[in-house]
Amino acid sequence: MRFRWTAYILAALLGSASLTSALELKNKTFSTANAGKVVFSHTSHLKKKNAKSANVGCKACHNGNMRENVRYTMADMDKGKSCGICHNGKKAFALAKCTVCHKVREITFKVKETGPVLFSHAKHLKTMQCGACHNKVFKAGPNKRVDMAQMERGKSCGACHNGKKTFALGECTKCHPVKEKSYKVADAGNVTFSHKLHIDMYKCRECHSRLYIPGSGNKTVSMAEMEAGKSCGACHDSKSAFTVKESCDKCHRT
Ligand code: HEC
Ligand code: HEC
Ligand code: HEC
Ligand code: HEC
Ligand code: HEC
Ligand code: HEC
Ligand code: HEC
Ligand code: HEC
Ligand code: HEC
Repeated sequence: MRFRWTAYILAALLGSASLTSALELKNKTFSTANAGKVVFSHTSHLKKKNAKSANVGCKACHNGNMRENVRYTMADMDKGKSCGICHNGKKAFALAKCTVCHKVREITFKVKETGPVLFSHAKHLKTMQCGACHNKVFKAGPNKRVDMAQMERGKSCGACHNGKKTFALGECTKCHPVKEKSYKVADAGNVTFSHKLHIDMYKCRECHSRLYIPGSGNKTVSMAEMEAGKSCGACHDSKSAFTVKESCDKCHRT
């Protein structure tokens, strides 16, 4: 490494572009425990004649304020070390723009009973920083699964979604979105199943996955099967709700 370094610096001092580019400068990936990965690109920082690059010599970075293989914290950077030599809102974009350096992705929780829950980093980061969640509420990586009862006690999303800091867990469909489902039925008329109407009366788990998988993959059910208690017929049996044996047009409309 020391030997290579000497070669680089020599190249830079002598202005030997061919030697510098011959010894291609690698990207450096920093892995952090709480804040994902950061990729530093020599190429984009050293590009000449590009307004969007540092366009500087090696020593602008390779000096006492950024030592190789020394780990710096964001607090160090705020004091002008490492990336903070330039990323201070003057020479380059400020450290406050976390996601330009720390890549985050949108998260999908697979939930059998309700279908997928999407967690948007982007939407949350409009009003908060990484530290609001990492690592107090979530590790940056797969966490232990949490159920709604634990959330009610303040775990996971429930740390904030408690009706005080922001909307409460009672507003299920803000996190577990549902659609109206339409069934095309050639002869008897199409049927619309309304989640909106039914979730005022039932919890998700009273239908999912006991009666339906949330998502495609449910088999077509005949009226005869419904009369025997499948699908809508589990409730529309004249006891819990009007029966599938009658009032066809309450369900079959157009
Ligand atoms: C904008 C800042 C910046 C500039 C300018 C810069 N570097 Fe770097 N360089 C870095 C960072 C950050 C690292 C990673 C440091 C670490 O590993 O802790 C690095 C690492 C290196 C490494 C070790 C990488 C490896 O492959 O392990 C070499 C060699 C290097 N730089 C050479 C150069 C040379 C030669 C120049 C000038 C042509 C240059 N750098 C200009 C920021 C810079
Ligand atoms: C200019 C790029 C850049 C920006 C902007 C940036 N970071 Fe970092 N951050 C890094 C790099 C690089 C490291 C790893 C440094 C090392 O290991 O030497 C790091 C490390 C961290 C760490 C682990 C070290 C520590 O301080 O505990 C955390 C947490 C972190 N960043 C959070 C944030 C947050 C929150 C923001 C926004 C307020 C932010 N970062 C903005 C580049 C950046
Ligand atoms: C010598 C000054 C300097 C240093 C030190 C520096 N940068 Fe930059 N960086 C710039 C400039 C200038 C730009 C482009 C102007 C802008 O977007 O504000 C830039 C752009 C970037 C970009 C966006 C373009 C790209 O490469 O994708 C990232 C990401 C970035 N820097 C990360 C880092 C990280 C991480 C560090 C620390 C390891 C660092 N920079 C250190 C000057 C610097
Ligand atoms: C409002 C809360 C919240 C904030 C703020 C937040 N995160 Fe996350 N983050 C999460 C959740 C939730 C997960 C998913 C955890 C799981 O899969 O169990 C996650 C996962 C991650 C992961 C792992 C992703 C993967 O591929 O598995 C990384 C990396 C991460 N976050 C980085 C960040 C960084 C960097 C910031 C700030 C720029 C940030 N997060 C801000 C909630 C948050
Ligand atoms: C650190 C606090 C915090 C945590 C933890 C948190 N949220 Fe949020 N969430 C917020 C705030 C604040 C808003 C903004 C809501 C508003 O506009 O009042 C929000 C908004 C949302 C929205 C609406 C976004 C939109 O604008 O469309 C959804 C959906 C959401 N959160 C889901 C989740 C899920 C899922 C989790 C758990 C994986 C979670 N949140 C964890 C604070 C948090
Ligand atoms: C702030 C977002 C949010 C709200 C509001 C919310 N959930 Fe959840 N729910 C989640 C997330 C995220 C998971 C998956 C968590 C995990 O796997 O760690 C989940 C898991 C579940 C599960 C499977 C685990 C269990 O508890 O059995 C069910 C069922 C569920 N939610 C139903 C509901 C119902 C019903 C409501 C309304 C009373 C609701 N959720 C409100 C985010 C939310
Ligand atoms: C009264 C029964 C019932 C209840 C209660 C119910 N669902 Fe459904 N759900 C259905 C039916 C019927 C379908 C369509 C199944 C098919 O034929 O594919 C469906 C489909 C879905 C789908 C896949 C289609 C779509 O909308 O994207 C999701 C996701 C879903 N439900 C989520 C939920 C969630 C979350 C709750 C609780 C808030 C819930 N459901 C409560 C009956 C119900
Ligand atoms: C978990 C029980 C349950 C299941 C499963 C269920 N329903 Fe219902 N449904 C009810 C109850 C209870 C009512 C309201 C009481 C009533 O109207 O008899 C209702 C009301 C309705 C209504 C409102 C009728 C009106 O007054 O306009 C329609 C339409 C309907 N259901 C269609 C369906 C269809 C289609 C399915 C199957 C895809 C289905 N339901 C599955 C319990 C259920
Ligand atoms: C509670 C709502 C509901 C009621 C009441 C209802 N149906 Fe249906 N029906 C459906 C749904 C939903 C489907 C489509 C099921 C699927 O595709 O999985 C369907 C499918 C059908 C089909 C095509 C499948 C088959 O069995 O041949 C016919 C025909 C039909 N209904 C006739 C009727 C008649 C006639 C009545 C009245 C005696 C009736 N339905 C009452 C909801 C209802």
